[in-house]
Amino acid sequence: MTGSHEPTDGHTLWHGRFAGGPADALMAYTVSLPFDRRLWPDDVAGSRAHVRGLARVGLLTDAERDAVLAALDAVSAELADGTFGFVDSDEDIHTAIERRVTELAGAAGAKLHTARSRNDQIATDLRLWCKRELVEVARGVTELQRVLLDRAVSAGDDAYLPGYTHLQRAQPVLLAHHLLAHGVALGRDVDRLLDTVERLDVSPLGAGALAGTSLPIDPAATAADLGFADVFVNSLDAVSDRDFVAEALFDLALLGVHLSRIGEEWVLWTSEEFGFARLDDAYATGSSMLPQKKNPDIAELARGKTGRLVGNLTAVLTMLKGLPLAYNRDLQEDKEPLFDSVEQVSLAVAAITGMIATATFVPQRMRAAADAEVTAATDIAEWLVRAGTPFRDAHAVVGSLVRRHLAGEGSLHDLVAADLGDDAASLVAPGEGVRRRTSPGGAGPVALPAQLERYRAMLDGLGSRLDRR
Ligand code: ARG
Repeated sequence: MTGSHEPTDGHTLWHGRFAGGPADALMAYTVSLPFDRRLWPDDVAGSRAHVRGLARVGLLTDAERDAVLAALDAVSAELADGTFGFVDSDEDIHTAIERRVTELAGAAGAKLHTARSRNDQIATDLRLWCKRELVEVARGVTELQRVLLDRAVSAGDDAYLPGYTHLQRAQPVLLAHHLLAHGVALGRDVDRLLDTVERLDVSPLGAGALAGTSLPIDPAATAADLGFADVFVNSLDAVSDRDFVAEALFDLALLGVHLSRIGEEWVLWTSEEFGFARLDDAYATGSSMLPQKKNPDIAELARGKTGRLVGNLTAVLTMLKGLPLAYNRDLQEDKEPLFDSVEQVSLAVAAITGMIATATFVPQRMRAAADAEVTAATDIAEWLVRAGTPFRDAHAVVGSLVRRHLAGEGSLHDLVAADLGDDAASLVAPGEGVRRRTSPGGAGPVALPAQLERYRAMLDGLGSRLDRR
C-alpha cells in the first residue's frame, strides 16, 4: 500500500506542519484507536477537569468552558450509546474526542487542547483506568477468598486429605487448612494490587508534552479535581513513567500464577485417580467425541493462560528498557498487554470462584488417601522425642520400622506395637495424624479456629481498604 491518506472529514492534529496527509501504511501501523477507545470515560473525565482548570486561570472564559463541557457531555452520551461516529483520521481516542468536541463547540472546542499534550493526557487516562480496574480485580479476588473461607468453614474439622510434598503423600491436613492456604496467598495479591493503586494515584496532567508550559496552569488543582491523591513532581518523569503498568502486570501475573496452582490441584482432585472433588455440571465441559468425559477446562485454562500474563509483563518491561526521556511512541505498546492481563485475570477469578463455590468434595476419598499408615511416621518419631530420644535417632528408628513394613513384615501398627508399645502404635489409627498437627498455624483442628479468626481479620482489613477506594 503506497496510497496517501487524505482525510475527507477531518485533519490530523498536526496538519498545519505537513504539506500532505499521512500514508495509509502509516495510519494502519500507528493507530491505537482499536484498543484505546475503551479509555473514553477517563479521557472525557480528564478533559472536563482540564477545561475547568483552564477557566480557573483565565485561559477560557466561563462561557467557553460551559460550551466545551456541554460538548463533552454530548460526546460522552454518543460514546456511551454507540452513536459516536469515528472517522478515518481518528488515530486514537484523544484525537477522536477532541475532533468531535470541536465540531460541536466550534471555536471554544479548539481551545480544549491548550496547555496539554496527548503525552500527559494518555498518562492521565491510563492511571485513572488502572485505579478503577485494579480495584475491581482486587474486589473479585476477595470474593474468591470468601468462597474459600465458606468452603473451609463447612469442611470443618473433620474433612482431611493428604498434604503433599513433591506430590508424594506427606502428612494429613484438614481440607479447611488446604483451602485457606490459597486464600492467604490471594490476600497478598489483593494487598499488592492496592499498594500499586496507591502508588499510581498521582496526576501527570499539566506536564504537557514533556516540559510543562508557558501558560499559567495549576496542575495541583486539576489533580485534586480528578480525585488523584497527589500531583507529579517532574514533568519529564510524569510523561515517561510507566512503572505503574509494569507493577500492575506483575501483580496480575503473580495472581495468575496463584490461580494456575489452584487450577493444577483441581485438575488432579477431579481426576479419577484422586477423586477428591467433583465439578458442578455448569462449571465443567464435555468432550465432542467421548460421551463419558467431564473435563475441568476452567482449571486447565487457569494454568494455560498464565503464559500470556507473564508474557505481557515481559513485553512491557522489554519495551521500557533503554527508552530515553521523555515520551516515545513505544509507550503506546503499554496498553494491549495491560488490557489483556486485566481482562484475562478478571475472567479467571470469576470462573474459578464459581467452580469452587459449586464443587462437591468427596471427603471419604480424601480420608482413604490420607489414612495410609506411613503418614503417621513423623508422629511416631515425635512420640519418641517426647520420651527423650534425640530426633535424628528417632527418625532412624521409625525409618527402619517403615522399611520393614514396606518389605511386607507386617502392618506398621503391629510393628510399632511390638517394638515401641501400644501407645506409640495408637498414633497409626485413622484420623490420628491430622489431630496431632497442633502447633499454631498448623494443619489440624486445634489450630483451625485461630487461623479462621486471623483469616477473617485479613479479609476485613482488605475489605475496608477496598471500601476506601
Ligand atoms: N496513542 C498514544 C499512546 O498511546 C497517545 C500519545 C501520543 N503522543 C504522541 N506524541 N504521538 O501513547
